[in-house]
Amino acid sequence: MLVLGIETSCDETGVALYDTGAGLLGHTLFSQVAMHAEYGGVVPELASRDHVRRLLPLTGQLLERCGRRLADIDAIAYTQGPGLAGALLVGAAVAASLGYALNVPVVGLHHLEGHLLSPLLANPAPRFPFIALLVSGGHTQLMRVDAVGDYQLLGETVDDAAGEAFDKTAKLLGLPYPGGPALSQLAQSGNPRRFKLPRPMLASGDSNFSFSGLKTAVLTLVRGADPGSHTKADIAASFQQAIVEVLVAKSARAVAREGLDQLVVAGGVGANRPLREAMSKKAEREGFEVFYPPQDLCTDNGAMIAFAGALRLAAGAPAGTGLGFTVRPRWHLEELKSVSTA
Ligand code: KG4
Ligand code: ZN
Repeated sequence: MLVLGIETSCDETGVALYDTGAGLLGHTLFSQVAMHAEYGGVVPELASRDHVRRLLPLTGQLLERCGRRLADIDAIAYTQGPGLAGALLVGAAVAASLGYALNVPVVGLHHLEGHLLSPLLANPAPRFPFIALLVSGGHTQLMRVDAVGDYQLLGETVDDAAGEAFDKTAKLLGLPYPGGPALSQLAQSGNPRRFKLPRPMLASGDSNFSFSGLKTAVLTLVRGADPGSHTKADIAASFQQAIVEVLVAKSARAVAREGLDQLVVAGGVGANRPLREAMSKKAEREGFEVFYPPQDLCTDNGAMIAFAGALRLAAGAPAGTGLGFTVRPRWHLEELKSVSTA
C-alpha cells in the first residue's frame, strides 16, 4: 500500500511517500523559516498562503522523483491537528480533494502521534511498550506508549515547552528565529558551568516540567548592559545544560518508574546534540535503550505522517472517502482512540 503523507500544521510544508512493503520511498520539505524570520516568529496567515503555493508542486516533484504517479497512491494521511487552524485547513483540503478524485481512503493524523512513532522508522527501532519524551516547539510530554493509539500521559510542562524556552531565550540573546538550533550552535563555544541557572522541578517527584523560570533567569542576566559575545555563549551553554539535565533526569526516572527498558526521544528539540549525548550516556549507565528518529525526521516532516497513517490504516482505523473534512487546532494526544494492531 502506497501512502501519501501531508504535513502543514505550522511553518513547514512536508510531503512523503511511504510504501508498506518497501518503506519510506522519499520525503520532501519546504521550510518557511526565511519568510517568517523578519517577523521574529510564525505569522499564521502567511503560513497558510505559502502552504497553498507549495503543497501541490511539492507533491508533483516527489512523485516524479520516486518514479510514481498520482494513480499509484492507495491512501492519503494528513495532519489534522494540533496546529495553526489555517495551515491545517490547507493540508486537510488538499488531502480530501485528492482522496475524492483518486477514490482512495483519507485519514487525519495527530501531529504528535507522527513525532511519537517516527523513531520506528529508524533502524534499530524500538518495540512496544516504551516511554516517549516528546519535545517540540509547543509540547513537552512524557508518555507511555503501549501500542499504536495507546498513549498514556505521564507528565508534561506546566508552562513553556522546551522548544519554546529555547526559542524565547534565543530571542533574548538576539539570535535569529528559529532560536533552538541557533542557541545550540552558540552554546558550542560557551562554558556551561559559568552561570548557575535553576533546574526547575528536578526534584518534584512527578513527571512534570516547567521551563518559563529559566527564560526569566536568563532575562535577569542579559538585562541592562548588552553582554559581550563571550558571555552570551556562556549563557547559552548554561541554559542548554539546565534544560538537558532536567529532560534527561526526568525521562530516566519515568523509564524506571514504569519498569520499562526503552526510551524514545521525538520532536524538534530531539535534534539537539548535547541532549542526545547526555541521554545516551544516562541510558548506558542505567541500562535502558534510547531511540531517536533519523536526524532529518526530528523536526516537522511529511514522512512521520505518511508512516503513522500507514500504521493506523493497517490496523483498521476508520478513514474518510467523501469531500468533508475537519481540523482540530487544539487536540490532546490522549483523546486518540486506540486501534488494534493485531
Ligand atoms: O517538532 P518541531 O519541528 O515543531 C513542532 O511541532 O513544534 O519542533 C520545533 C522546535 C522549535 O522550538 C525549535 O527551536 C526546536 O524544536 N529545535 C531545537 C533544535 N532544533 C529544533 N531546539 C534545540 N536544539 C536544536 N538543535
Ligand atoms: Zn512538530
